[in-house]
Amino acid sequence: MNIDQVKAQLKQNPKKWLVTGVAGFIGSNLLEVLLDLGQTVTGLDNFSTGKQENLDGVEQIACPDKWQNFTFLKKDIVNLPDCMEACTGVDYVLHQAALGSVPRSIDDPLTTNSSNIDGFVNMLVAARDNSVKRFVYAASSSTYGDHPDLPKVEDKIGRPLSPYAVTKYVNELYADVFATTYGTESIGLRYFNVFGKRQDPEGAYAAVIPKWIDILLQGNQPVINGDGETSRDYCYIDNTVQANILAAVTDNPEAVNKVYNVAFGEKTTLNELLDMIKSGLSAHKPEIAKIKPVYGPFRQGDVRHSLADISRAEELLQYSPQYNVKTGMQATIDWYMKNIIIKA
Ligand SMILES: NC(=O)c1ccc[n+]([C@@H]2O[C@H](COP(=O)([O-])OP(=O)(O)OC[C@H]3O[C@@H](n4cnc5c(N)ncnc54)[C@H](O)[C@@H]3O)[C@@H](O)[C@H]2O)c1
Repeated sequence: MNIDQVKAQLKQNPKKWLVTGVAGFIGSNLLEVLLDLGQTVTGLDNFSTGKQENLDGVEQIACPDKWQNFTFLKKDIVNLPDCMEACTGVDYVLHQAALGSVPRSIDDPLTTNSSNIDGFVNMLVAARDNSVKRFVYAASSSTYGDHPDLPKVEDKIGRPLSPYAVTKYVNELYADVFATTYGTESIGLRYFNVFGKRQDPEGAYAAVIPKWIDILLQGNQPVINGDGETSRDYCYIDNTVQANILAAVTDNPEAVNKVYNVAFGEKTTLNELLDMIKSGLSAHKPEIAKIKPVYGPFRQGDVRHSLADISRAEELLQYSPQYNVKTGMQATIDWYMKNIIIKA
């Protein structure tokens, strides 16, 4: 089934979902779409990087009767009892809770390890013991590490380049072992640089797109790490949400217990990305067009180029990303203009 057919079926036959990391960027976007489809959602978050305002943002746009289908648990996946409570009666888990950011993991590998590996295994155990139908989890393109091939295909990975990358690869190994040992069903989604509304622009570990939007709106110069020719496969949040829903409900036996690239399948350099953001923002604030970047050193642990082959997700999950980086960027800028400028 394609995403429209899946959505129609879910509307007719609602399910119970658990979204971990629900107060974060991707989690809150999953919540928004699931509630809109009339699903019952439990959300878990410890607010380590997530924010109450992300949940408030979803509440503002959700119909009040649909918002009532949401239960929030301020809990921590590092505690197994918290995970057990959250998984009770759940059909599908969309596990997003983790500490993101390569630099954060280099600064503090222990805390990253605790949420990303201990917490992950707790969630697998809780899902298994509550007979959850499917465990879909946020894997990462960082698992490709130093493998030189482009585009990236799921079965060819290199050595991890950061503690964060190690944790995300270990997640895949655990999910695989749980499938063979306990018969659990899981699907790992290797996200490639997701962006869109509600992504946090603040803090030392902010992702590049919201950070640059924020800096440019303040009239400051963004810093490019390296020469700006580093490239990524930027994936708009709507595509990521689509992949999660398809992975949770697919009844294709070939699709289960696999990992998938989730991206658009096009690469954009940092220099091109900055031009795109500047051109979108200068339609609102023309003076932004004149701002020049500052070039700094390359960032430790970063891979030079990243580009996904998305054919496995297209074939087995019927994944069909609707937004490319340009249309996604336009939607993102529209959202930040309404939500950042008005607040300032
Ligand atoms: N954003 C991307 O480009 C990207 C790329 C690859 C993988 N991922 C993965 O996707 C997932 C979601 O990322 P995001 O961009 O939404 O990040 P985010 O920081 O906005 O969201 C993560 C959420 O998890 C919560 N969390 C962290 N540790 C927790 C714990 N121990 N217990 C309970 N909640 C906890 C945080 O408070 C936060 O709300 C993460 O697993 C991340 O590693 C993201």
